[in-house]
Amino acid sequence: MNQVVFTLNGERTEALVEPRLHLADYLRDTSRLTGTHLGCEHGVCGACTVLIDGQPARSCIAFTVACDGRDVRTIEGFEDDALMKDLRTAFTRDHALQCGFCTPGMLIAARDVVMRCPDADDKRIRSEMSGNLCRCTGYLGIANAINSVIQARRGGGATPAIRTAIAANAPVVQPLAKPWQAFTPADAEAAAPRPAVAAPLDDAGPREGWQRIEESFIANHSPGRVWEIFADTAGVAACLPGASIDEATPTSAKGRIDVRFGPMKASFAGATSLERNETRMEGRIRGGGSDSLTGSRAKADITYRLASEHDRTRVSIVMDYNLQGPLAQFSRSGIVKAFAGRMVAQFGENLNAKLGGGSAPIPLAAGRTAELNAGNVLWQWLWSTIKKLLGLTR
Ligand code: FES
Ligand code: FES
Repeated sequence: MNQVVFTLNGERTEALVEPRLHLADYLRDTSRLTGTHLGCEHGVCGACTVLIDGQPARSCIAFTVACDGRDVRTIEGFEDDALMKDLRTAFTRDHALQCGFCTPGMLIAARDVVMRCPDADDKRIRSEMSGNLCRCTGYLGIANAINSVIQARRGGGATPAIRTAIAANAPVVQPLAKPWQAFTPADAEAAAPRPAVAAPLDDAGPREGWQRIEESFIANHSPGRVWEIFADTAGVAACLPGASIDEATPTSAKGRIDVRFGPMKASFAGATSLERNETRMEGRIRGGGSDSLTGSRAKADITYRLASEHDRTRVSIVMDYNLQGPLAQFSRSGIVKAFAGRMVAQFGENLNAKLGGGSAPIPLAAGRTAELNAGNVLWQWLWSTIKKLLGLTR
């Protein structure tokens, strides 16, 4: 048993808990704060969302011991919160709940969206809320309710329909947002004009609603040799665990990448555009795909740059990404960063092996696409978090 001391809804809380006890179980079974609901217990549905140090977190996959010294706030802790009051009123008015099971998690996530994205439109709201699932599929009312609160806080920006509805305390009726459509590299060009690849990699920050990961590794060959290898799309894909290419030209590619993330499997099929700047030894890969297993969609904009470092090559990678659907809840977490770090490290090892200058490549089963088992990554991330909390260095 471990002793933990943390703040729960503004009050000091002290407890002796098993290391494996999830925060959601502690909240419901010990503190009797049953407003925190449990749906999937896999971090997918968002029903268990609480705030930890002001950030939305899945209490079903957060260990209680990891909350030592933290500030935890559940739905019961928003009784006197003015913004939450507005959201509750809007949810009621816009029929944003049917069975209500998802509602506590929705409200906490919605409050975060209203505070973090004061200019969000319907599309952005749906994207930001895509990590919270409503099994009654009441999304129209939920999006409308959040939209009305954002508009009201923005003052004069509300549409006439929303202004009338707010004034009359009546439901807001808006057309459904445009359904999500398959992403193509052409969409990326049109939707998000970006600087030419010749610009420095870190010239532009991540666009609104996207996350950024930066990694690098050393390849044991000259930049010229590594640059040659990077021109071979299929060869590069073979170094990336779980990736396979169906067709490739010098400027585009189609393929898929399979990942296993604890109990979840995803197989993203998609298309990318490829650009290379020979002079600067920089390249850009832009594209997107969808996973038929989880219904998640991903868009990514990856830039890489080669630089000489002591007769070897440092490969720097910047990945901007946007995840929607059930996997979106991971997009802002340290888990994704740990996952990406592991992917890049494996990619570097495999590339070195391909170049003949490093350890043997991670074997891929013949004729099959490999899967990256993220279980270890999840564990490594949890362990490093726990070590940080305990002040351990090894
Ligand atoms: Fe935690 Fe579903 S119960 S995300
Ligand atoms: Fe029933 Fe959302 S209202 S799960």
